[in-house]
Amino acid sequence: MEVAFRTFQQASHRRAATGDPRHGTLELMEFEIRDARGEDAEALAPLLEQLMGEPSTEAQVRSRLDRLATTGADRVLVALSNGRVVGLVGVHLTWMAHTDAPTARLMSLVVDETFRGQGIGRRLVGAGVALARTWGCNRLELTSRLERSGAHSFYDAVGFVHTSKRFSMPV
Ligand SMILES: CC(C)(COP(=O)(O)OP(=O)(O)OC[C@H]1O[C@@H](n2cnc3c(N)ncnc32)[C@H](O)[C@@H]1OP(=O)(O)O)[C@@H](O)C(=O)NCCC(=O)NCCS
Repeated sequence: MEVAFRTFQQASHRRAATGDPRHGTLELMEFEIRDARGEDAEALAPLLEQLMGEPSTEAQVRSRLDRLATTGADRVLVALSNGRVVGLVGVHLTWMAHTDAPTARLMSLVVDETFRGQGIGRRLVGAGVALARTWGCNRLELTSRLERSGAHSFYDAVGFVHTSKRFSMPV
């Protein structure tokens, strides 16, 4: 099932070194969200390190992308700004015994630290919502570590409601 994510140009005003906004220049930014490809692995490795605080090699990322591409229940999307990979979100389709409609889960959301605060995370969530609707899901959910207070504020800002506690154990 295909979901189209538009490429568009976004005007971005850069203030001149004088600090006077009247002396700024208008830059055109090309922004795109598309499915991740094997060749994105090199750019994604440092992003995943920012997310997890531990390194991933390019080979590990490529292998994870390959594996996710075979499940039939996962999409990994990347955000590109002027052709550079600056963000990632995974979306997972889950079926459960107690509901008829599937649920979508956001996985691995991250925006490059030098590109945060520009609305890219919001757009990645929007892409996840679009994908969830295409899949026929009636809910989009996610899990976030307790210490990620900045991310929790982000989720509040983009429309999620905090409804649950998560319990886990090593097996
Ligand atoms: C969380 C994250 C994906 C947000 O991406 P982003 O591109 O910076 O977010 P956006 O610019 O789209 O922000 C959208 C809204 O969230 C708010 N927001 C974003 N980060 C925030 C923060 N740390 N604290 C408070 N609000 C925040 C913004 O102010 C904005 O609100 P507004 O539209 O009402 O002005 C990014 O900070 C990140 O990658 N963090 C590290 C990895 C991480 O924690 N991922 C989540 C794992 S569960």
